[in-house]
Amino acid sequence: MLADAGIVEGLRRAGLIGAEEPRLVPLAGGVSCDVWKLETAEGPVVVKRPLAKLRVAADWRAPVERGASEVRWLRRAREVDPRMAPEVLAELPGHGFVLRFLPDAPVWKDELVAGHGAPGFAAAVGLRIAALHSATAFSDADRAAFPTDEMFRALRVDPFILHVARADAELAPVLHAIADDLTARKVALVHGDVSPKNILVHADGPVFLDAECAVFGDPAFDLAFCTTHLLLKHVWLGGVRPAAEALVAAYAGRVDWEAPDAVLERAGPLTAALLLARVEGKSPAPYLIDPAHRDCVRGQARALLRRPASLDRLVADWKGLE
Ligand SMILES: Nc1ncnc2c1ncn2[C@@H]1O[C@H](COP(=O)(O)OP(=O)(O)O)[C@@H](O)[C@H]1O
Ligand SMILES: [Mg+2]
Repeated sequence: MLADAGIVEGLRRAGLIGAEEPRLVPLAGGVSCDVWKLETAEGPVVVKRPLAKLRVAADWRAPVERGASEVRWLRRAREVDPRMAPEVLAELPGHGFVLRFLPDAPVWKDELVAGHGAPGFAAAVGLRIAALHSATAFSDADRAAFPTDEMFRALRVDPFILHVARADAELAPVLHAIADDLTARKVALVHGDVSPKNILVHADGPVFLDAECAVFGDPAFDLAFCTTHLLLKHVWLGGVRPAAEALVAAYAGRVDWEAPDAVLERAGPLTAALLLARVEGKSPAPYLIDPAHRDCVRGQARALLRRPASLDRLVADWKGLE
């Protein structure tokens, strides 16, 4: 695939390529960016450029400035723990950027699909995310560096929570209450897309990618988002609940900026809302095709929105089709 002239020029200016045309090899990725692998003088790198219009069925647009907040998140995470994010090698015109490519680090989703539930790795994910939340908790500098509420609203609160509320009169009040609390709560630096497809399984532990939705907000969101993915995969594949339990327990054990129970109590309803969003929302989980799987998620999520549970309780009670 050919990149535009701005990207090629940016790569040259950064000294990553010479006069030759770069051979950009597309990486299997998401819906919101162009992502390529490129061999350079510095070794293999990843070139990423945000798209103005996401590749999803619904018309869903988002400002490309999110590329800049992703870079800020990656750099800030590396200050806290250099093992938790890839190094940013250069920024490119159009809010694109270049990362060091990590070889021999499969995406966690592929490992889960291959049947490696790996509660130990899930616990490491919880610990690293909580360490970043702890390091940034109530930090005025971090709050000022991530004035991205509008982006978070457009990419997370609206499509995942309010979209469902618009179509469901019964649950709308509780979903609005969850959305309002999420929007108002300013506690720590949130990644915003802690999904197994955005986590590399590296020898040094979990590496987090794809921080386009980063915001200074409620840390319970990251925990809820990742737990949601694991619970959906439990319904799809079976055998993943122990990983979800390990994630939640490790995270809660590392919370030191507020009472751990308070985070779990917010994360429970948030998880229920996100679970429902992945069967009813604008961005349905692509692997939940079987109607029995969708009904299983929908029924439990709706019950949990009517009768909220703390996240540890929610995970312990979560059922697949077993
Ligand atoms: N630094 C990296 N090292 C190795 N693989 C990477 C790296 N960055 C991205 N990838 C691969 O590219 C995929 C897409 O990258 P990601 O940042 O998640 O973009 P998208 O927004 O398109 O999902 C990832 O799932 C991963 O497989
Ligand atoms: Mg991704």
